[in-house]
Amino acid sequence: MAFRKIGIMSIGEMGYHWAQLLNLHGAEVLTYARDRSEVTRKRAENVGVKSTGSLQQLCQEADLIVSIVVPSAALKIAAKIAKSAAQVNRRDLLYLDANAISPMTAEKINTVLGQGDVRFVDGCIIGSAAKMDKGAVVYASGPQASRILELESFGFTVQVLGAGTSQASAFKVVYAGLTKGLQGLFVELLMGAKSFGLLDEIVNRYEESFPGLLDKVSPSIIGLRIHAARRAEEMDELKRTYAHHGMSALLAPAIQKVLSSIAELDVRTTSEKGIREGNLLDVLELFYQKGLLKDGRLASKMSK
Ligand SMILES: NC(=O)c1ccc[n+]([C@@H]2O[C@H](COP(=O)([O-])OP(=O)(O)OC[C@H]3O[C@@H](n4cnc5c(N)ncnc54)[C@H](OP(=O)(O)O)[C@@H]3O)[C@@H](O)[C@H]2O)c1
Repeated sequence: MAFRKIGIMSIGEMGYHWAQLLNLHGAEVLTYARDRSEVTRKRAENVGVKSTGSLQQLCQEADLIVSIVVPSAALKIAAKIAKSAAQVNRRDLLYLDANAISPMTAEKINTVLGQGDVRFVDGCIIGSAAKMDKGAVVYASGPQASRILELESFGFTVQVLGAGTSQASAFKVVYAGLTKGLQGLFVELLMGAKSFGLLDEIVNRYEESFPGLLDKVSPSIIGLRIHAARRAEEMDELKRTYAHHGMSALLAPAIQKVLSSIAELDVRTTSEKGIREGNLLDVLELFYQKGLLKDGRLASKMSK
């Protein structure tokens, strides 16, 4: 069945770019945003996404619902959709979870959705929001995963990983460890270089040793002003996934701490158009001025 109406929960940075691409290729995008923040509602309005009057209406109208929230909300929103679909007797609704969640959370979502007769596809997105039609890939797994290939007709690149219910989430967890790990490592080291008055020198040296690496990671470091808390959550998902498999993730908790410390700086900026602004040096300066990784600052936080 062709997707004509696609529900997106919610219109954050990633949701905005999905909606833009879907609109461009003729799909109608719906959301339910009445209980969301002003910036999310504004983003939906800016990208021409209609908010339905209720989640039940969203379930009735949509051919597919895509969950693109934050990892900690993924199970909650799935439970709400399962309940709403059951309330309006909507059978066979297709649901793609595209969040960076642990495979255990994906399995729970599968169970919860099954109770409402909603069909689950585990998914993840690799690539930045602004590059959904320029190299970003939607990975999918599970018995219904091939149905998601239909998104290719809207400009997305989709790859099916296999029939496992939570394979896409497991894939994302180990991938996210690399991207967040590089961001955390660079921020920690560059804060040190700034303190020692050696920032330009070390940036040049990194470039000589690892050409292009910092340039590649820079947009994500800039995005930490907005996404540090969510990315810290992803490191928690990684840690829990390893623990579930009887393994210890030793680096993930440290990266989580760096990212949480950035989130605590309270420098969050939001965009009603789903875009990131700024340059690396300004962002590092901001983190530095706010006392990121400074013992005094951490100590005063801990004594509160
Ligand atoms: N941004 C990227 O480049 C990127 C790249 C790869 C993967 N992803 C994945 O995409 C997902 C979203 O990331 P993002 O960058 O779009 O984050 P974001 O900009 O922070 O947006 C998150 C959205 O989820 C909404 N939300 C939060 N809790 C919710 C709940 N309980 N019910 C319904 N909506 C809720 C937020 O609404 P409020 O404003 O009301 O809180 C906001 O609209 C994440 O799982 C991430 O792993 C993002």
